This record gives sequence, C-alpha cells and structure tokens, in this order.
Amino acid sequence: MNRHNYAYYVLDNPTIPDAEYDKLFRELQALEQTHPELASSDSPTQRVGAAPLPQFAQVTHSVPMLSLGNAFDDSDIIAFDRRVKDGLKLDGSVAYATELKFDGLAINLRYEDGILVQAATRGDGATGENVTVNIRTVHAIPLRLRTAHPPRVLDVRGEVLMFKADFAKLNARQRDVGQKEFANPRNAAAGSLRQLDSRITARRALRFFSYGIGLLDGADMPPSHSALLDWYAELGLPVCGERAVVEGADGLLAFFHGIGNKRASLPYEIDGVVYKVNRLDQQRALGFVSRAPRWAIAHKFPAEEALTVVQGIEVQVGRTGAITPVARLAPVFVGGVTVTNATLHNEDEVRRKDIRIGDTVIVRRAGDVIPEVVAFVPEARPADAREFTMPSVCPVCGSPIVRPEDEAIARCSGGWIKCAAQRKGGLLHFVSRRAMDVEGLGDQLIEQLVDKHIITTAADLYKLGVTALAGLDRMADRSAQNVLTALEKSKKTALARFIYALGIRHVGEATAKELARHFGSMDALTQATEAQLLEVSDIGPVVARSIVAFFSDSLNIELIEQLRAAGIHWPEGVSESKPKPLLGKTFVLTGTLPTLTRDAAAEMIEAAGGKVAGSVSRKTSCVVAGEEAGSKLVKAQELGITVLDEAALRALLKSD
Ligand code: IVH
Repeated sequence: MNRHNYAYYVLDNPTIPDAEYDKLFRELQALEQTHPELASSDSPTQRVGAAPLPQFAQVTHSVPMLSLGNAFDDSDIIAFDRRVKDGLKLDGSVAYATELKFDGLAINLRYEDGILVQAATRGDGATGENVTVNIRTVHAIPLRLRTAHPPRVLDVRGEVLMFKADFAKLNARQRDVGQKEFANPRNAAAGSLRQLDSRITARRALRFFSYGIGLLDGADMPPSHSALLDWYAELGLPVCGERAVVEGADGLLAFFHGIGNKRASLPYEIDGVVYKVNRLDQQRALGFVSRAPRWAIAHKFPAEEALTVVQGIEVQVGRTGAITPVARLAPVFVGGVTVTNATLHNEDEVRRKDIRIGDTVIVRRAGDVIPEVVAFVPEARPADAREFTMPSVCPVCGSPIVRPEDEAIARCSGGWIKCAAQRKGGLLHFVSRRAMDVEGLGDQLIEQLVDKHIITTAADLYKLGVTALAGLDRMADRSAQNVLTALEKSKKTALARFIYALGIRHVGEATAKELARHFGSMDALTQATEAQLLEVSDIGPVVARSIVAFFSDSLNIELIEQLRAAGIHWPEGVSESKPKPLLGKTFVLTGTLPTLTRDAAAEMIEAAGGKVAGSVSRKTSCVVAGEEAGSKLVKAQELGITVLDEAALRALLKSD
C-alpha cells in the first residue's frame, strides 16, 4: 500500500484504481483487528485522525522558518540576479533552481530515524503550532521515509495545499449539508489543517509538496537545492515536477512566462514562482537580510483576488432569455485587468452568498475566466446595504420574467421575436467561432444591426449588402467587404456546426455532433420523434423534448429553409463516400486484443461510423473484449450485451 501511495503522490503515476486501494485498506484493517500485535504506528490504517485536542501545543522551530522577498516585474528579477552576482563576486551567470510558489500553508515535518515524529505550522517563523495528528492524516506525507539509512534528524519543509478539484468537491459537500463554503483552496487547506478534531482533517483531501530543509543531522547536506529535491523524491516525499535549473535572469524569466501559460491548467493554485540560488555553498555565502534569504525571491503573478464595493446589481438577458444578475463594481485591478462587472450567476447564488448592494466583496478573476464575486466581507457591511430583488419584467423587452419552480434560472418570456437581447445573443451565437464561424462580426456590429432594425434573424445576415454595413459606426467599406466575404465563406459548413448554430436549448457542440452523426441529414433530424432522439447516445428526455419543441415551431423551420435558400450547405448523407456499417452503435473496449491496440480498434470503429465509450451502460451496443477483460465484461454479461472478440469485430467491420 505504501508503494501505491508513493506511485500516486510522488511519481504522479497511479498503479491501481482507488477502489482497489480501498479494498487493500479494508483487508489491512481486518488483519490488524485480528492481529493487533502487527499494527504499527506508520501503518496506512493510522491516518484516520484522533480524538479532538483542547488546543494546539506550541512548537519552537530549531531553525527559524523564513519568508521570501517579492518581485513583480522583470526589472525586479534583473536586479535580484545582479545582487546575487555582486554578493558572490561572480562575473559569469548563476545557476538557479526554479519552482512554483504554492498557495497553501508552510509546514515543517520532523523525521527522526526516518519516522515522522512532529509536524508544525510556520506560525510567526520562530514558533508554530503542533499539528502532528492532523498531518498524519495527509496521505501524500510519508509516515516513514523510504530508505534503509535514514538521517537521525531531518526537518522537511514544504507546503500543504488542496487541489482545485478537491476544493470544488469539498465546497459542493459543504453546500449540500448547509455549511459555509470556503472562499478559495488556500483557506480550505488552512481550515482543514487547523482543525482540533483531526478526524475532520482526515476527510479533507490535502496534499503536500516539499521545497526546503531545516535541521539535518546524521547525513551529508546535498550540494544543491535541485539535489536536495531529488533526494526528497527518493525518500518518498512529494516534490512538484514543475521545476528546473536555469542560468541567469533570462532563464528565470523564461521559466516565469512558461509557467504563466500553464498556470490555469495546473491542478492546484499558485501565486507565482520561486527562484533559489542552486548551490547550497553559494546560498550560505549570501545569507539573510532580516527575515528573508538573499539567495531566493518569489516572483508573483498579479493577484487574482481583490476587494471592491458593489455599487449596484443589474440583470443581463442571455440568448435563451436567461436572466443573470451582474454586480456593478467600483473599478478594481485584479488578475491583470481593471474589472467593473462581475457575474453573480443566478438569483439563488445571490441569496446563498448573501451579496448586497453596498457590500465590500472579494472579486476573483482567474486567467481568462469571467470575473466573479466570491464572498462579501461581513465586517464591512454598511447598515444601509440593500438586497437584490429579481425584476418581474425583462429590462430589455418588458415581457414577464418567469422562473419554473424546479429551475435555478429565471427567464424573459419574450423569446427572440419580442426580445432584442435574445435576438442579439442568438445571432452572436450563430456567427461564433464554433458555430458558423463568421469572422469580424462581433457584438458591436450585431448590436447596431439589431437596434437599427436592419436584421432580425440569422437569415437576414446573408441579405446584407456593403451599403447597409458601411453605414454603421466604425465601419469602412473595406471592413464591410470583409464581413461579407466572411459571411460568404461561412455558407460552406458542416451539418454539426449548423445544428449547433441554431442555438437549440440543451444542444451544445458535442450533442450537435452526435445528432449530425446519428441522423446524417437536417431533414431526418427535423422529423425525428422523441423516441428516435432518445436512441442517440447521451441524449436524455429533457434534451429530446427540447429538440422536438424547437422543430415543431414553424418559425424555426422557416428560418432553416431561408438559410438553406441563402446558400448554406454541407455535405449531406453519411453513406455517400464510404459505407458506415456501425452507424448509431456504441462500443466499449476492454482487455488486451490479440493484435490491435485499443486506439487502433477505436479508430476502426469510428471510421465505420460507430462510437467508442468508456463505460458499459444499457446504451452500449457491443463490448469488444480481449485478454484479462475485467469489470466491463462482467457488466456487459449482466446487461445481456453482445460481446465480441477481435475476429468478430473485424468481421463486423467488413460486413454490409
Ligand atoms: S521557500 C527561506 N519555496 O511562501 C525560504 N516558499 O513567502 C522560505 N511558499 O512561508 C520559503 N511555495 O508558505 C518557498 N517553492 C516555495 C514556496 C514557498 C510557497 C510559501 C511558503 C512561505 C512563503 C514565503
């Protein structure tokens, strides 16, 4: 089990599914119950937490835990590199270890003779809190180091944090049980670790990355920071893979920009990167100023969260009529841009977060994601803060706003005929990149075209001429011509794109592709019954009903006809080129096939019009099973689904 843990947390290369690990865990628990003499204190079963503490004891760090100086732009980094070179009296370039600045909390782990004996928070740097029982519940942290010759004493320093996905799950759980949600993964990690009841900590998915050292006794100090981290990984301590050794300021900046591009896709939050002089002898030579080392610096990203005041809450009307409350904010610089609006998603969300006009709030803008209001600051709420009330009529068209009881979203009931906001939204969706992909037709143009009653429907777009367009604000003949060319180009499209462009409720890109594949033609789709739609994989009753409703509206049928008359076309009919004997069939692959790799088999099935899914359900047509097929084969047999071997699959591909 420790080997599996090591593979998972240190090598980032899981060796068994979670369910298998849980099975081993229960087996070990049972074994320890019948043979208590075999249960050791570093057994994986000893990570479940203990009775609550009255308070945390104080721990004095044997080597103080320092902080880092901050840098925000390139010139700060060039100056840092200069100071380091001057301090070392070096002419050539310095080698730096670069790593991430994790947004969690710093911890010191003390290992004596390879056994975890104490864990303490950083506290004020000199003394922290003893959180050993809590830390023992963190599976990423080894209770015993993986070595036959451990040092007598080793203080490992690093960051405890919560991954984004685990944070989302925790908040969903908090919401379900009516408990307060955490504002961000850092708060969730801190709140989880500093629980007097470690059984609660045990239920929170905390992680750990090592990045430093305190006391070391009974082993040689590695020569460099990178060698230290390599040694840690060997000892079974998690070390983040996003690290490098680079030369000089150029190397530092290249690392910074590389990580900046990756930041949003990392599974955890970081607030910057950290640079450390790699050689430990050079680190010692440079020493410290006050409480920060001269040999290291944090290069921070612009903050993703900031405080500002809600000046008003207005509503926006989307293309499906969905009414979204939007907070109007006092301008604030966050995530690298000035933000004046932030979404509040829907009415329930406003109530749940209890955001009021006049509140001071935390605004978050991460990457290119639209800014959102995270929470209000209770201490800063003015006495006259006003609650938001959902308007009863649409601010754009005056139609009643309705909210079905079982839905979170209130909608304008005007539809696109009455409501200009819906019309604009629908048109913008129609021309968007993943739909008809009309370049150069943005929201400002659509806005003017609709407001000036030049167009009403998507079909009107294709009737536009240079004069109509060139008469608009910020439109020269040349750009008008470009829009017309883009419109012309968009006429040659694909069925899936066209279906998606129609903006049928609940029909996103993936569903549109599925519909195109299944029905092969627009006519077949428009005539499909609910029962026929339900045969399409991934389509349930709600989506089927929405599609039928869309095509039973004569205005929509008329629109499609007009668009086709305007020249929009796509290669229709699926069996024109090659026969597609597996059309509409879903396959699941399991086990090892005698000659085909799984990817090759999937490709062959898809080329024949079939679909490959990851799990077996009632919608599965066939399971293709090879050697050592497991639970998927069992499930197929239970559900009475046809099971094929490779030869039978090949025969099927050849038939028809
Ligand atoms: S090294 C003497 N490395 O940042 C060097 N700190 O401002 C001390 N942090 O309290 C810290 N990632 O909580 C270091 N890769 C990293 C870090 C890191 C995050 C945090 C840590 C520390 C604070 C210092």
